[in-house]
Amino acid sequence: MNIEVFNTLNDLNHSFTSWLKELLTEKESITIALSGGSTPKSLFDYWATLPEEEIDWKKIKFFWGDERCVSPTDEESNYKMTKEHLFDFVPVPEDNIFRIMGENDPAAEVLRYGEILQDKLERVNGIPTFDIMMLGMGDDGHTASIFPYEMTLWDSVENCVTATHPQSGQKRVSLTGKVINNAKNVVFLVTGENKAEKVKEIISDPDLAAKKYPAARVQPDSGNLHWFIDVKAAQMLTTKS
Ligand code: 6PG
Repeated sequence: MNIEVFNTLNDLNHSFTSWLKELLTEKESITIALSGGSTPKSLFDYWATLPEEEIDWKKIKFFWGDERCVSPTDEESNYKMTKEHLFDFVPVPEDNIFRIMGENDPAAEVLRYGEILQDKLERVNGIPTFDIMMLGMGDDGHTASIFPYEMTLWDSVENCVTATHPQSGQKRVSLTGKVINNAKNVVFLVTGENKAEKVKEIISDPDLAAKKYPAARVQPDSGNLHWFIDVKAAQMLTTKS
């Protein structure tokens, strides 16, 4: 578990981007599963302002770790957020974008997207594997759209499941632990003081936290787990953590 703490979002975004660029030198093309919510907006806005030649966008295939079951034009849509903060500004070929179709019937979309992953990604042990699995973390310790009260979804034998937001009841499509932990690299982007308590619990005692929080179940077989966090999210960590 590699943890880097940054004073500013710009420093975090710069460092993550340098890490991504290094990975891009190693492969013809890479696959990334994006996280949703508000945290990635800052990273996408940072990417949108880079000189066009800085990242060869044609080399990246974009997927999502989860999506809200809404239309792609709905304010809640992770795809819409990504389009408005990234795809509208950088030359990502349409064929490189594999969005979860939130407008579809959730159960049907789970099957459809599960097949897309099986078909479009490299597989390790027969399981789709991302080059980069980007994750956020909710202040309740959820990740992707696996929520603590539905922890059993993490262990599904499927690639994707339908989940339900505990407060809003909003239906979600989410990747499962089987796919998330099969990624070559898993990257948590976590910022803000409202995440500090869970960051502390997960980093200081991952095994205990894994009984309670899906984010603590992120333990990729590759061993490549990177936390990019800001000082606010890290404020409860001690040097011994
Ligand atoms: C989503 C995300 C979810 C998110 C966390 C953190 O669809 O909401 O994928 O897992 O990463 O809820 O969200 P914030 O970045 O908004 O705090």
